[in-house]
Amino acid sequence: MISIKSRLEIEKMRLAGKITGMALVEASKHIRPGISTAQLDKIVHDYIVRQGAVPSFLHYNGYPASICASVNDAVVHGIPSRDIILKEGDIISIDVGAYINGYHGDAARTYPVGKISDEAARLIAVTKESFFRGIKYAVHGGKLGDVSAAVQEYVEKNGYSVVRDLVGHGIGRNMHEDPSVPNFGHAGKGVKLVSGMTLAVEPMVNAGEYDVCVLDDDWTVVTEDGSLSAHYENTIVITRDKPEILTLYDEV
Ligand code: MF3
Ligand code: CO
Repeated sequence: MISIKSRLEIEKMRLAGKITGMALVEASKHIRPGISTAQLDKIVHDYIVRQGAVPSFLHYNGYPASICASVNDAVVHGIPSRDIILKEGDIISIDVGAYINGYHGDAARTYPVGKISDEAARLIAVTKESFFRGIKYAVHGGKLGDVSAAVQEYVEKNGYSVVRDLVGHGIGRNMHEDPSVPNFGHAGKGVKLVSGMTLAVEPMVNAGEYDVCVLDDDWTVVTEDGSLSAHYENTIVITRDKPEILTLYDEV
């Protein structure tokens, strides 16, 4: 069942989205060689709690932290650790959610650690741009497949692949709601988009093949071929015009 949010619910989601987006801004200020992903987790956790919100991910299906911190070939769901210390040239994806007044926000970015290779920088840029290409089609009356196909087309045109095993999702009272929002598919197919739908659109893009596997920690998803992966996610609201992005508080 896809829930359509009222104006009041969207107003509540704006606050959850703002705290989520600002939590990423907070995290980004601390990304540098030498910091551990556990330190980043604590910084973001404390930020969210200071805003009066609850970290959405903490204890979700037993997840042990407030952010996912996925380095280099890690795609998503990297568990923060004192033993994972960022070094110059790494890329790190941070995914975070905040829950307040009964609603969730969900967003992710991939950041460079110090100076990174041109190829890694291009992967980050293409992943981000694929989100914006996709959401051009996220309007009332459109089809979800229009969004998915636009993301896939842009990514593949640039020589990369979109992960198949993980998808975006509806969001609201629950972090994961219907519908699934794949980053691959066919224009004209899928559910009809309606004003008041709230979606987490989140391209996960691999520099190599799209296959992924899960590490022994049962969470961390990595590329099977060891290639780099990037992630870019925002929570959006469908309107009659262009979608409202609830979690975008860094530069576009
Ligand atoms: N943000 C992720 C998503 O988009 C969820 C993280 S899984 C968790 O679906 F267990 F860490 F919460
Ligand atoms: Co999500």
